[in-house]
Amino acid sequence: MAALDANQGLLRFITCGSVDDGKSTLLGRLLYDAGMVPDDQLAALERDSRKLHAEADGGLDFALLTDGLDAEREQGITIDVAWRYFHTARRSFIVADCPGHEQYTRNMATGASNADLAVVLVDARKGLLPQTRRHTYICSLLGIRQVVVAVNKMDLVGCDEAVYRGITEAYRELARTLGIAKVDCLPVIAPGGDNVGTRSARLPWYQGPTLLELLESADATPARAEDFRMPVQWVNRPDQSFRGYAGTICGGRVSRGDEVVVQPGVQRARIERIAVAGGDLESAGEGQAVTLCFDRELDASRGDVIADALRPAPVADQFACHIVWLGDNALLPNRTYWLKIGTRTVNARVMSIKHKVDVNTQAKLAARHLSLNEVGYCTVGLDETIAFEPYATNRTLGGFILVDRQSNATVACGMLDFALTRAANVHWQHVDVDKSVRGASMGQRPLCLWFTGLSGAGKSTIANLVEKRLHALGHHTYLLDGDNVRHGINKDLGFTPEDRVENIRRIGEVAHLMVDAGLIVLVSAISPYRSERRSVRELFDEGEFVEVFVDTPLAECEQRDPKGLYRKARAGEIRNFTGIDAPYEQPESPEVHLQTAGLRAEQLAEQVTAQLLERIVEPADDDYPV
Ligand code: ADX
Repeated sequence: MAALDANQGLLRFITCGSVDDGKSTLLGRLLYDAGMVPDDQLAALERDSRKLHAEADGGLDFALLTDGLDAEREQGITIDVAWRYFHTARRSFIVADCPGHEQYTRNMATGASNADLAVVLVDARKGLLPQTRRHTYICSLLGIRQVVVAVNKMDLVGCDEAVYRGITEAYRELARTLGIAKVDCLPVIAPGGDNVGTRSARLPWYQGPTLLELLESADATPARAEDFRMPVQWVNRPDQSFRGYAGTICGGRVSRGDEVVVQPGVQRARIERIAVAGGDLESAGEGQAVTLCFDRELDASRGDVIADALRPAPVADQFACHIVWLGDNALLPNRTYWLKIGTRTVNARVMSIKHKVDVNTQAKLAARHLSLNEVGYCTVGLDETIAFEPYATNRTLGGFILVDRQSNATVACGMLDFALTRAANVHWQHVDVDKSVRGASMGQRPLCLWFTGLSGAGKSTIANLVEKRLHALGHHTYLLDGDNVRHGINKDLGFTPEDRVENIRRIGEVAHLMVDAGLIVLVSAISPYRSERRSVRELFDEGEFVEVFVDTPLAECEQRDPKGLYRKARAGEIRNFTGIDAPYEQPESPEVHLQTAGLRAEQLAEQVTAQLLERIVEPADDDYPV
């Protein structure tokens, strides 16, 4: 039997399995045996059990204690994870009750990311099912290193020890392949409470601890990060005399006098004070919320990481990582999302999906995008460097979420694995002849004029006229046309969402280089997604990107149909056609909004040129250092 230490501190655990396995009953029984069912709820439980099971033996239906949540789920009320708090004389517990079906992988991931241990329920009659594998895989992915396997419904297999042994041996093998270090197994009969809170007379061959005892004695801190780390949550500066950096320590310990470094930078300082609500501490460790004061003034702000100066965190901007996709819309490689890690938020793109993982079999499959509840192994690039840790070492500095920049919805959670070394080996090369010098020698302010709109809206025709006009005025220009670019640099791309994202990213990068060369670049591409147009805009300096929305109604484009493509799309000969079976997201606030109805292309080009000339006139000499 496991030794029962005195109070072991809070244990967070997650229960995995479906209602069919008896999960609700087990959880209800656990609460009951822990003495956590209040008298009035117990009376209601007796009444409801009698009502539901009139002719049965009059026992309590413990599933009723937790089933309310399932009902809410069925009604579509969003329950991410139901957290329950309970305690025994020895210990406090927080249990995350997560639904078991595949469509709830995201809920499970949320629950598992905060848990120290998982209770995996297996129906003795069924043995290991694909869902057992799925749950165990998600647990291992989210860093759970200890599992309790409760083989339930033992009475329905005649309390046969051989059945139990077969299941537990198969499970231990699965856990080994997934790197789960500690597995405890026990046979239970949830409704009777056998081996839940008290030992079972029906299962005399099992001499080990009960479920409650296993939970009471489990190690709550299996993989503590050793080196001191604290993400800065906010800078506390009430007056000139005090400046402290507040946050929660997510790894190691810190003591007064320790030397620390503020990352991702390299500034160092010594810890002068460790302040908490009640006064000052000599030292503090993981999980404590503190305010640190340094012995000198330096610049640290929210999102920075204060780390042990002798063993700082690695710093990088490209990573290999696992991603669990939680969004209703698929993950599109190369789209920009916000990545939140620790207290930091940065722009990020998934550069490639190395493979996706079949969550039921762990087979690696090729993938071009990730859909809801899919897991992928990816490379991610950020537009700034961050201090991080592999997720296996530190959940706070290795775990992240991705947020959609349009909807603000959380669309993924991820686990950093390692930094890609190429990131550290490629440096930005400084050049002395820069954009402003080149622009000045051409007598213009370089910029990018981005025409967006439906196919057949008139983008290329108008852009062509504008370019002619600018050229006649002596400006240096280049027109990048979507159709033309697709014959060369984007020859490999089609019209799927992921290909369009990449099409626009490349056109944006090329336009950016051309603006850097001093040119006025005109781009004509449908560019149907707000998100990508915004990402392109962010490549440019303020005022350098001019979005021109060529606003021609779909009916008009279809009626013109200059290339006969709408007709083919309607006939089903072309798939993913913008406006027909693929979306066009209108610009919300373009710099130029051309409502084309009733106007000739020349008039529209004139409107654009008029607005443009103000922006590109040659600047006064003293604006530019030559
Ligand atoms: S974008 O959506 O990725 O920006 P882009 O502007 O490069 O598209 O190319 C659009 C042109 O490709 C259209 O003007 C049309 O001539 C042609 N085309 C062929 N198939 C499609 C399609 N499925 N959807 C839209 N345009 C298509």
